[in-house]
Amino acid sequence: MTTATEPSAPLRNPPLILVADDQADVRESLRLLLETEGYAVKSAASPEETLVLARSVPADAVILDLNYRADTTSGEEGLELLSRLRALDAIRPLIVLTGWGTAGLAVEALKRGAQDFLEKPWDNARVLTVVRNLLALAESRRESSRLAAANRELAEAPSAFIGRSRIMGRILEEARHVASSNASILITGASGTGKGLLARWIHDQSPRSGGPFVRVNLGGLVDSLIESELYGHVRGAFTDARSDRVGRFELAHGGTLFLDEIANLSPASQAALLHALEEGRIERVGSAIPVAIDVRIIAATNAEIRQAVGDGRFRSDLLYRLNTIEIELPPLRARGEDIGLLAHHFFAQSARQNGKPLRGISADAQAALERYDWPGNVRELAHVIERAVLLATGEWVEVADLRLAQMPGSEAPGAENLTLEQAERYLVFRALEQCGGEIEAAARKLGVSRSALYRRLAKYRR
Ligand SMILES: Nc1ncnc2c1ncn2[C@@H]1O[C@H](COP(=O)(O)OP(=O)(O)OP(=O)(O)O)[C@@H](O)[C@H]1O
Ligand SMILES: [Mg+2]
Repeated sequence: MTTATEPSAPLRNPPLILVADDQADVRESLRLLLETEGYAVKSAASPEETLVLARSVPADAVILDLNYRADTTSGEEGLELLSRLRALDAIRPLIVLTGWGTAGLAVEALKRGAQDFLEKPWDNARVLTVVRNLLALAESRRESSRLAAANRELAEAPSAFIGRSRIMGRILEEARHVASSNASILITGASGTGKGLLARWIHDQSPRSGGPFVRVNLGGLVDSLIESELYGHVRGAFTDARSDRVGRFELAHGGTLFLDEIANLSPASQAALLHALEEGRIERVGSAIPVAIDVRIIAATNAEIRQAVGDGRFRSDLLYRLNTIEIELPPLRARGEDIGLLAHHFFAQSARQNGKPLRGISADAQAALERYDWPGNVRELAHVIERAVLLATGEWVEVADLRLAQMPGSEAPGAENLTLEQAERYLVFRALEQCGGEIEAAARKLGVSRSALYRRLAKYRR
């Protein structure tokens, strides 16, 4: 904020108008008129000079004549100049001067990007109105294109991956370390633990961050579409293939291909994918021409993929290709202090988006968040906070606004009223918590195998 004691900011420069006409008297009278009104003026006598000036000074608008030759009134040179000026800047107002008998030219000029025209001899008041209105219009168009660009950036900007708990600190450190290699990464973890976000985060930390990040959701595709989605097809490859289509592998060239929900692939698709990865090239469906692929693969699954391998539903050789590095995201319940951190992050986001002047999350509500089980993990936390921000009527988000369904297992329960399942659930989550979210250690502590623990976690998530 500016206070009286601070030096005042320099005045914004007056708008600069470029006047182009071969007649000196036209240039001079327009200069006089515009300068009297407070504009800065530069003038040019020929199309060449106009273009040189237009490139070298930041003109906010151009008033230009169309006729630069005494022997013809075709206006060709003027129209050419107009097109070139428009090509230099899509928004800057261009106003043409038309002489007697050249009204047809004005129409052509408007087609080529002029916004208005002034007939000679002009009316001074009209000149000033046209200039003022067009400058205001250009300013608002520049502002909205700046906003659109900023929004695009925001939409594309990956959100930060939040996690300061001991276990997440270790995982992020490892992820950052492997990001720099080209190794395939498999991210496992329950639904909503942030697998998609982590994949994007790894891409952004990697030397491929300037390349594309392309996601394919294999869980959401019927088998018959997977091939053409991944590898593309050529026209006529099958009945619906009306034109060539570039597949995701090619779209991700130079970047990262994120294969989400990998466990859902059919045996045939698994075989094709393994083939592509082993060969380092693909063929579009219906084409025999191989295309070399340069992509880094990150795959994710929320299913117990080892179980699927054990049951023969997932090829072990493909798993071996995909999980050069494996990163396992623990359930949110096991991340201790991250719950509060994430809650504040989502709170700030929702409050801003909804324009609600809330002060924060009350201490009671924070405690409730920390006690809760979070079967839906970070995604559920985000939804709970978003809803609470909408529901909150006071200055703070309160416990009631959270609408948490209280689940057994979050507090040490009174043993006498417990079902076997509730007791098991409590023990499992307590062990996980005590082991900092490490499945391996928690399984050892509970005296069960890793996959037995996974099965139980999957059961509680339902
Ligand atoms: N550590 C985190 N920091 C900030 N936001 C997160 C974090 N983890 C997850 N989120 C957010 O929570 C939501 C769910 O995350 P994401 O979609 O990555 O989960 P997922 O594991 O891929 O789930 P699913 O298995 O259901 O696909 C997203 O909106 C994501 O941006
Ligand atoms: Mg996901």
